[in-house]
Amino acid sequence: CIRDSTMTDRYAVIGNPIEHSKSPQIHAAFARQTGEDIEYGRVLGDPKQVEASFRRFFAAGGKGLNVTVPFKEAAWRIADERSARAETARAVNTLILLDDGRLRGDNTDGVGLVRDLKDNQGLVLAAKRILLLGAGGASRGVARPLLEEGPETLVIGNRTASKAVELASALKPLGPVQGCGLDALAGRAFDLIINGTAAGLQDEVPPIPDGCLAPGGWTYDMMYGDQPTAFCRWGKAHGAVQALDGLGMLVEQAADSFFLWRGVRPRTGPVIATLRGRD
Ligand code: ATR
Repeated sequence: CIRDSTMTDRYAVIGNPIEHSKSPQIHAAFARQTGEDIEYGRVLGDPKQVEASFRRFFAAGGKGLNVTVPFKEAAWRIADERSARAETARAVNTLILLDDGRLRGDNTDGVGLVRDLKDNQGLVLAAKRILLLGAGGASRGVARPLLEEGPETLVIGNRTASKAVELASALKPLGPVQGCGLDALAGRAFDLIINGTAAGLQDEVPPIPDGCLAPGGWTYDMMYGDQPTAFCRWGKAHGAVQALDGLGMLVEQAADSFFLWRGVRPRTGPVIATLRGRD
């Protein structure tokens, strides 16, 4: 097949499972809004041949990939060069084909979370006490951008304490961060509790000691679903002023990926409203 510059540029999201991903709908809306001529599909990655799944897409002319569970670490390995934030996260959610054929890896998850909290919800993160639950890929992706907002403290609390301590020690040069097990959170209070654990996949919530959510505090689940997530329900039950899910973060990280690929930043508000069924 002959390719020329008039052909539509192809992008996709790769993951496993992938059929429920909302990314194609989000990027189609961005393309309509900005007039960018792109196609955006889904790729079901093969966990046994991860690299081959990526290479096949680019060999067939693809220009960029979004990467979701469970391939973000694999994408980090495959990238020929990486942004600083992807390096800290050791995870890549956006692959960009460069003009010289090399792949650049970036991670827009953290900036997506911060934009959703600040721009969409109007929450000031500076000088806040923030608790980040979990020390896996999801938490690694957002920890650095959160610290860059200048919180009073960022505590990473994890079921396996050693993983939280390790992540925190890697972030120490960037700000006031500390890692601990969940038991060690007893007696502490936070203005914002963010859930980056996978407990929600079993409709569970990590065992968080009572009193951890300060009066007037907010909760944020990086997961989302058609129904309120287990952690959103936990937040409401524990008096959160706002108990948010990760739909806004999903759209914001997509907008930053779109910007990296196309150099145009779409407006996210109308797309979030559509996905929430409120337009
Ligand atoms: P991901 O890359 O999607 O974040 P991961 O690396 O497997 O996935 O990390 C999952 C995170 O959720 C971990 O912090 C995990 O805690 P452990 O490090 O102790 O395994 C956490 N997690 C998963 N299920 C949990 C549960 N039921 N309760 C509390 N934490 C849970």
